[in-house]
Formats: sequence, C-alpha cells, structure tokens
Amino acid sequence: MADSPTVYIETYGCQMNVSDSELMLGRLAEYGYRAVDVPDGADVILVNTCAIRDHAEQRVLGRIGELKRHMKASTVLGVTGCMAQRLGPRLLERAKHVDLVIGPDGYRALPSLIESARNGERVAKVDFDLEEHYEDFRARRVDGVSAWIPVQRGCDYKCTYCIVPTTRGPERSRALDDVVRETRETVAEGITEITLLGQTVNSYNDGTNDFADLLQAVGSVPGLRRLRFTSPHPNDFSERVIEAMATTGAVCEHVHLPMQSGSSTTLKRMLRRYSREEYRECVARLRAAIPGLALTTDIIVGFPGETEEEFAETLEMVSEIGFDDAFTFKFSAREGTPATRLPESWTISDEVASERLARLILAVRSGTRTINLGMLGERHEVLVEKLSRRGTLLQARTRHHRTVLIPGDESMIGRYLMAELTGTTGSTFTGAVVPTRAALPMAG
Ligand code: 5AD
Ligand code: SF4
Repeated sequence: MADSPTVYIETYGCQMNVSDSELMLGRLAEYGYRAVDVPDGADVILVNTCAIRDHAEQRVLGRIGELKRHMKASTVLGVTGCMAQRLGPRLLERAKHVDLVIGPDGYRALPSLIESARNGERVAKVDFDLEEHYEDFRARRVDGVSAWIPVQRGCDYKCTYCIVPTTRGPERSRALDDVVRETRETVAEGITEITLLGQTVNSYNDGTNDFADLLQAVGSVPGLRRLRFTSPHPNDFSERVIEAMATTGAVCEHVHLPMQSGSSTTLKRMLRRYSREEYRECVARLRAAIPGLALTTDIIVGFPGETEEEFAETLEMVSEIGFDDAFTFKFSAREGTPATRLPESWTISDEVASERLARLILAVRSGTRTINLGMLGERHEVLVEKLSRRGTLLQARTRHHRTVLIPGDESMIGRYLMAELTGTTGSTFTGAVVPTRAALPMAG
C-alpha cells in the first residue's frame, strides 16, 4: 500500500472533535488514504480545531504556521472543526498555505474537496447540515479499549459565553437504532466501554426516543460493560433519565455535570437556566438514585460582572458539593457571543481572574484530595487503558472514572481487574491488583 495517499490529522478541543477526527480518517480510508503519525511528507494534513477559548485558537494558529515546514509542494492542508467554522474564508486569507477550511458539518465532502485542492482550488465550506450524522462513516478508532459514539450534534442552549451554538449549529439527535447498531459493531470489535457524546447529551431526542430510552437500549447490547456519556445539562436530568441511569447496569457511577458558577446571579447572566439551588437539587437527585456517584464539573471564573461575593459562592459550592474533580477556566470573550454585549465596565481584569482561578484550583484540589484519601484501602474494578505516561505502570480506570496506576505489562490492556487503592497523589491513585476468581486464568 506504499502508493496510497497519506493523511495526517492533529486534533484539538473536546471529545466530539476526537470523534470527528476518527470519522474523517474512516471516510478517507474508504477513499484509499492511509493514516500516518507524523506530518512530514503527508499528502494531506488536517488540523481539527477548537474555538472555545481564545487561547485554544491562538495555539492552533501557531501550529498551522509551523506545519508549513512539514509540507511538500503538493501537500493539501485543511483546517476543520470549530475554528474553521467560526473563521471560514477569513482563515484562507490569513494563512495562504491553507487550502481547505471545513466546518463540523462538511466532512462528507472531504475526499472531493481534497481533489479540488489538488487542482489548485482553495475552498471554505462552512454551511450547516441539519441531517448530518455521518452514520455511514466507519470511524477509524485510535483507542482499542474505549470508544466515543456521537449521538447528538450541535446545541440549542444559548449560554451567553459559548461559541458552540455558532460553530456546531442547532441541536439534532441521531436515530436510536443507529446508535445501537454502532454500539453492537464496536462491541464485536472487542471494545467494552463506550461514551455517548453530545453537547447537551441528555437532551437527546430522536423524535421517538429520549435519553432514558437510549441509555436502556445501548445498555442492553450484549457484551457492553461500561456505558458513559458526556456532557449533560442539569436541566435535562428528568426523573426518567435518572431512573434509566440507576437501573441500567452498564451505566457507570460518574457524571460530569458542568456547573460553570455557584452563584445564581452569575448563572443568570450566563443564561444557564438554573440557579445555585436547582443545581444543588439536581446533584441531590442524582446522588439519591445512584449511591456513591462520582461528580466532576466545569467552572468558569471572571465572567463579566462577577463580584467577589459571587465568586465566594462558587468556592462555597465547590466545598459543599464535594466534586471529585473540576476543569477550571478563565472566561474568554468569544466574538459574536451575547457575553460580549454586556457593559464594558463589567469586564474582569486578567489579574483578578487569574487570582480567582488560582484560589478555585486550590479549593478543587483540596476537595479531591480529601475524597481520595478517604478511599484508600477500597477495592474497585478497573479497566486497563494503556501504559502510563512514564511507561512503567499501567493506567486503569474505575467505573467512577478515577485513574489508578497499577503494575503490569501491555498484555493486560483492555482487561478488567480488581485493584486495591494503595496510595494517592491527591488526584490519581496507585493500586495493587487483587486476584479474583474472574481474573484468574480459566482452568482447562
Ligand atoms: N470562556 C471560558 N470557558 C469557556 N467554556 C465554554 N466557553 C467558554 C468561554 N467563553 C468552558 C465551559 C464548558 C467547557 C467545555 O469550556 O466551562 O463547559
Ligand atoms: Fe468542542 Fe466546543 Fe471546542 Fe468545538 S468549540 S471543539 S465543540 S470544545
């Protein structure tokens, strides 16, 4: 296959982008392309981008500049994803070595657009396609242990800070049967953990089935052992959905529930559509239905108008709720979002935002540490994912999404083991494998 054209892809941003990259590689494989791990000499280079914060965009712009050095005269350079959608033709003007700019709904045209680029055309394709789910693409999965399955594209919430409704368009759900079909195929390939993806995944509705139906249907695929989803919106946790989570054995005891702020007034300016009390109540309902539930979250500091008192309410909620972990961000103004139209005098200086972020990170870390120290000695089923970054241990994960480093070798990747939590750095655990009947070699 030495003659087949090669494609190199670099992915930024969220899991939805990781999943889109797998779809693009799958599509191109059907057209004879071979994926390669380095950009040098590739016939096609794709950069799948994120637009969520300015920092993410600046990084990608720098990288696009750098990639020029790795291109042959004939290399086609395509920029895809959210930043491509946001900037469209402006990106072609800005970087003359970019041939293609393709938004998240345009990947079906990738092979033909690459052909056009070969013929010297430079194209920006950024229209939305409300029917598009890429159902017929066979994702080329990079990970052999855990798989992403997109079930919903776009977003209908209009949180005032967020660029996603602009970059991914209106919300639409993929048909339940098709999600189940992909799950079956994925399990048949030997993958036993899947994560359902959507911008507000629990608002899933394909016209006939809601997210509760989806969890039940996917959860009953034989051979599937772990079912996760990300990211839900607090307002879409209906009783039905919570009930389905609690009664579907494969659904893992972990929810990533973006809070964004612990202050009702800030939440109102963010147009999150829930108050501090309602968030708290959602957590209580989830915890009552799923004992031992692990909770992680996203929090933004420095949103326009955030007072010290409002920020203190966020810190209070962090300690009250007891998150297992949190992704924390400084607010970044995104062109065209409603937050940019708030009074200029409400802007929080970078100095104040940085200081708040530092305090928030300390609060989150201290909470995580307390929870984790309290877990030492417990035994948990872990799924071995890969070699740890240092390469001397294996990285495994509990159903609660906690990382446990255990001794072992590559042959154990993909296996379920029982691990005793023996130590913690505060955020991750070290563990010892405990022999169980199931983990012992089968006799005969
Ligand atoms: N600035 C900072 N953080 C943001 N997020 C989304 N938009 C912005 C923004 N403009 C964060 C939210 C979201 C996560 C994916 O990124 O916390 O949940
Ligand atoms: Fe994902 Fe949002 Fe970034 Fe797009 S902008 S890649 S949807 S995080």
